[in-house]
Amino acid sequence: MISHVERSADVTADQRPVFEYATDPARFADYVAGYASGRVTTSAGTGPGASYEWVAELGPLRLPVVERVVTWDGGRRADYEGRVGPVHFGSSLWVDDVGPGRSRVHVRIEWTHPPWLLGRVGDGLVRRLVATEVERSLARLERAFGPASSRTEPRSGDRAFEPDEVARLYGKRAARYDFESRLYRLIGFRIDRYRQMAVDALALQPGATVVEIGCGTGANFPLLERAVGRAGRIIGVDLTEAMLEQARRRVLLEGWPNVELVRTDAASFGFPSGVNGILSTFALTLSPEFDAIIARGARALAPGGRWVVLDMKMPDDWPPWLVRAAVALARPYGVTLGAGVRHPWDSFSRCLPRSWMRELYLGAAFLAVGVAGQRPS
Ligand SMILES: C[S@@+](CC[C@H](N)C(=O)[O-])C[C@H]1O[C@@H](n2cnc3c(N)ncnc32)[C@H](O)[C@@H]1O
Repeated sequence: MISHVERSADVTADQRPVFEYATDPARFADYVAGYASGRVTTSAGTGPGASYEWVAELGPLRLPVVERVVTWDGGRRADYEGRVGPVHFGSSLWVDDVGPGRSRVHVRIEWTHPPWLLGRVGDGLVRRLVATEVERSLARLERAFGPASSRTEPRSGDRAFEPDEVARLYGKRAARYDFESRLYRLIGFRIDRYRQMAVDALALQPGATVVEIGCGTGANFPLLERAVGRAGRIIGVDLTEAMLEQARRRVLLEGWPNVELVRTDAASFGFPSGVNGILSTFALTLSPEFDAIIARGARALAPGGRWVVLDMKMPDDWPPWLVRAAVALARPYGVTLGAGVRHPWDSFSRCLPRSWMRELYLGAAFLAVGVAGQRPS
């Protein structure tokens, strides 16, 4: 059984000092959450071949860990492999340059264990424990270098949901989703207008193929149908069966012959190559792997094709108490402060030649657009 956790955080420092800090064994105790004690077991403390023995405190457990560096791109990326009892794991840390004096640190931990060891429920619990520790470690790095995000700092209780928790949450809300989401109009959230802006930003032509990530009940399908026409193709991807069931009903009722629905985590979706547009509204930042999803989608876009994301963001100028109140209101939909540090527009700027972002709803929402080059990259 293979499981993984991937998280990232933005810090205000250049790439190299952040990488050097995060890979220096003398610093592990400062920023690796759950690092109880440890020692370097090779003559070189860092770099290719360096190995470590340490004790991890994971929730109530104290676990002896051995690990070593397997690949090393000094200044940017380090991959480690190791063992905790019978469980083998690989971990990677890489740092991207995302602007002058700003870097994004990514941590990915992947582990393999025999299915009899933990079972599905045990595996889910371990994934959550590991995710919490990784988020705490990244929060410490943010403190060491200064966060690049807004004034409202997530605390440990604000952690983002895992995909299985998101699916459970939407499984419960699916039947009422369309009605409830319209209630946000009462607080001035112009959801229909924003949806139209997002679909317009895709600049789709009749006959185009468009993928919608996290399509939910298909609330955008009427607008997408109008844009691509009957000769076009709409592929809706979603994690939650109950949401897709609502979408299926909508498609049947409207008699749309050109909509295909795929149930999967977007992180495992294989984008067909040469799509003309990819849309995601109020869904992409629910995934801890939003950055990798954007990169894979960008590679699948036809020349001139567009990636468009409409979603919530952390408003920069709101007082922290108001931000927390707004997040509490949207929490039934999986919105958390922990996910507020996910910035799809930064991902666009790294993997597409042209991109822009526009704030909506006084900075608490955004529309981000990325355009593929004229030649596939
Ligand atoms: C707030 S709803 C948005 C639905 C629709 N896009 C809309 O604008 O009404 C979020 C949707 O994203 C889906 N979702 C969340 N994480 C996902 C993931 N990792 N992969 C695929 N779908 C995901 C949920 O199942 C849910 O249907």
